[in-house]
Amino acid sequence: MKNKIQIILACVLVVAVVLACGQFSSQSASPASPSAVTAVIVPEQSVESGAEAGSSGLGDSLYPGFGNGGYDVASYALDITVDDISTSRLTAMTTIEAVATQDLLGFNLDFVGFEISSLTVNDEPADFSRKGQELTITPLKPLLKDQSFTVVIQYQGSPEKMQSLSMPVQAGWVTVNGGSFVLSEPDGSASFYPVNDHPLDKAKYTFRVTVPNPLEVAANGVLIETIDNGDTSTFVFEVRDPMASYLATINIDEFDIETMTSENGVPIRNYYSSELPKEVREPFARQGEMIDYFSEIYGQYPFEVYGSMVMNAVFESALENQTLSIYGIDAIDFEDVAETEFIVAHELSHQWFGDSISVADWGDIWLNEGFATYSEGLWIEHLDGREALDDWVKSQYADVVENSYPAPGNPSADDLFNGGVYVWGGLTLHALRLEVGDETFFEILPAYFERYKNGNATTADFIAVAEEVSGKDLTEFFDNWLYGETIPPIPALGLGN
Ligand code: ARG
Ligand code: ZN
Repeated sequence: MKNKIQIILACVLVVAVVLACGQFSSQSASPASPSAVTAVIVPEQSVESGAEAGSSGLGDSLYPGFGNGGYDVASYALDITVDDISTSRLTAMTTIEAVATQDLLGFNLDFVGFEISSLTVNDEPADFSRKGQELTITPLKPLLKDQSFTVVIQYQGSPEKMQSLSMPVQAGWVTVNGGSFVLSEPDGSASFYPVNDHPLDKAKYTFRVTVPNPLEVAANGVLIETIDNGDTSTFVFEVRDPMASYLATINIDEFDIETMTSENGVPIRNYYSSELPKEVREPFARQGEMIDYFSEIYGQYPFEVYGSMVMNAVFESALENQTLSIYGIDAIDFEDVAETEFIVAHELSHQWFGDSISVADWGDIWLNEGFATYSEGLWIEHLDGREALDDWVKSQYADVVENSYPAPGNPSADDLFNGGVYVWGGLTLHALRLEVGDETFFEILPAYFERYKNGNATTADFIAVAEEVSGKDLTEFFDNWLYGETIPPIPALGLGN
């Protein structure tokens, strides 16, 4: 079990994404600088009383510069033509439909690199300036509160390599020899589209991606159309359920595509880089069963489709992109299918916890990783019974103790995906189960999901549901389990005392 955790967490230790089939040319990683605040220069005649510039951050406790205030995005349409796959040279246009949430003289987007050739707001050219990852836009006319507006940004160039602030790993659009993939949690999205980059501003997405033949595209959502343009093909995907920006993914390669349907009717499409051996499919064979099982205990699978993408590249991680989890080849243990299946179950369960219910603040990341880790335990229990779960709990507990993982409730900004949010976070749910009893516990999870699906939640929101459903004051319980110096004991299993 530890191996798997290490695979999921290995990125913490890795200085850069290492590629299976090539190395990056020497690079100067350009760290995102979300704290940059750019003053908006306001033309005198357009000042309206009360109108202000939208803020250049959304007040996240760990990353105050992520996202922007003053508006709410309804949809993004990304129209991307890959001119050259070896460099990922793109010609792109992003169309954003948004609503002002206050009178606005200007507003910000997060965007890194590229040359912007045109930028309009409501079809009129707008002024803009750039500093770090802040793109500050001043429309010709101020926007009024509740006004809908359209931003169209045309840009070209190759995505810049972005180092995540959350750990020493490349995030965003990654170019590999012969293909590319996108893995953005938490801050890589600005590497390929202008975005309000915080999970609080979910939106719908359309991707129109044109690639040279015979390359193919695997993106989030439903493949609506494939257009043959002769030398190139255009793949159109739609995400019709709201999605957090970090979950947007576009992957380009030649793929073997496998389709199936869960017994309850959820369509599954898996994309395997066509260079990979057939055995790569084995750990993904039970995704249908997993979807149906998690639907039973958490609530109906929240999206139109699911599937996985495996790239022929080492990226020290897997990521639960909405409707399409992605895996580096190193996440697949060809010797141990069962072990890999736990990672598959982990990413799949994130569709409920992480993707449908997203964190309102990155400091609450245990609501993603603790829940996904405990989902592995629940999958084990589903397959092999309670004793197997208890053994799993014991090994998880030993992992926390041996590695002195920190408590899950207060991750540090530069070590967001630490072992504590995963393993201790998962154990917190098991401890809650022991505290309130099985019946209540399995009422809490679907009640929480029902209330916050397609939206965002905080730790306080989860605690409130747990208290409401159980009728217990759980303040002290959660204080100890989420913020304690050392992990509390689990007497029922003889752990920690
Ligand atoms: N959420 C991922 C998981 O399932 C970890 C993502 C880490 N981020 C990254 N850019 N590699 O554990
Ligand atoms: Zn996870």
